[in-house]
Amino acid sequence: MSWKTPCVVLGIETSCDETSVALWDGFKGRLLSNITLSQEIHKLSGGVIPERASRSHEENILPLVESVLRRVDLPLSDLCGIACTQGPGLFGSLAVGFMFAKGLSWALGLPFIPVNHLEAHVASLFLDPPYPPYPFLCLLASGGHSLLLRVEGPFRMEILGRSLDDAVGEAFDKTAKMMGLPYPGGVEIDKFSRGGDPHAYSFPSPRVDALNYSFSGLKTAFLYFLEKKIKAMPKFVEENLEDLCASIQEALLAHLLSKLEEAVEGEKIYHVGLVGGVAANHRLRELLSERPWAVYSPAPMYCTDNGAMVALAGHWKQREGILGSWEDIPFARSKIGSS
Ligand code: KG4
Ligand code: ZN
Repeated sequence: MSWKTPCVVLGIETSCDETSVALWDGFKGRLLSNITLSQEIHKLSGGVIPERASRSHEENILPLVESVLRRVDLPLSDLCGIACTQGPGLFGSLAVGFMFAKGLSWALGLPFIPVNHLEAHVASLFLDPPYPPYPFLCLLASGGHSLLLRVEGPFRMEILGRSLDDAVGEAFDKTAKMMGLPYPGGVEIDKFSRGGDPHAYSFPSPRVDALNYSFSGLKTAFLYFLEKKIKAMPKFVEENLEDLCASIQEALLAHLLSKLEEAVEGEKIYHVGLVGGVAANHRLRELLSERPWAVYSPAPMYCTDNGAMVALAGHWKQREGILGSWEDIPFARSKIGSS
């Protein structure tokens, strides 16, 4: 198929706790519609409960697909491909979207296009202009990953650095939980940090080789710090919440940025993309805007998991003739650049 042929790709994302579907018009090169349903059921548990996430995807997937088509008055017959996240992610959640997408492709006689979730996050930089020129550096900071990438093309990227333990989003979520904040904690910390002093408390900077990250030490230091303070002053967290959020956020972001800075200097590439849920953080965006680099990032709603990035990455794969087969299955863990 020529990429000039009118073509709308349906993108489905169910890798974790967002059920999201979108339509990408490959002919016009624009997003027609995107609907994301964030599962509220995990708010009080402090993290995603996999079994509940899968059930919720099962309930939501069909109504969401119907809504996204209805919203732009598009008949199923105008679709030219069905793209879906294959992994990495929670296996049960992935399986719901993947099997739905497979079934729909089969029923409609359309190509089935499995998409790597991490490559889709990188593709989110191309949902709206300005686009970064290749090669560029990309910081993928999410609940499951902290990756520094050198991106050469849509599906050609090299990992320069990665987290050796917790992902940065996970560190946000776990430290938020220690303060009694609901899931997803990154959003809560971002919100309360706005009124706080980022230098009210300081935490030790992690020491890690090369361009790799480590967030678990910071998390533990924060836990011991809180335990000590609460012992002396039981209402310490409530009375200092904004300063605590601003300070732990500053420490997490300082580590994230120090390695990014090293990567920019090492690679001598000054175009930097910022993707994944943590890319929505207002302070991270502020700190990056002070750097003398060209920084690119999607709108916050396309930093967190969404169907739009899956539909666009799916369109690119279809254009290259990289399609899936009926034997394909989801995967919980993957290497980036494997498609
Ligand atoms: O990309 P994403 O939606 O899912 C994964 O692929 O993991 O990222 C979710 C992560 C969660 O850890 C959440 O707390 C974090 O992104 N997050 C944020 C913000 N919004 C979402 N972290 C810091 N500040 C935010 N504004
Ligand atoms: Zn993600």
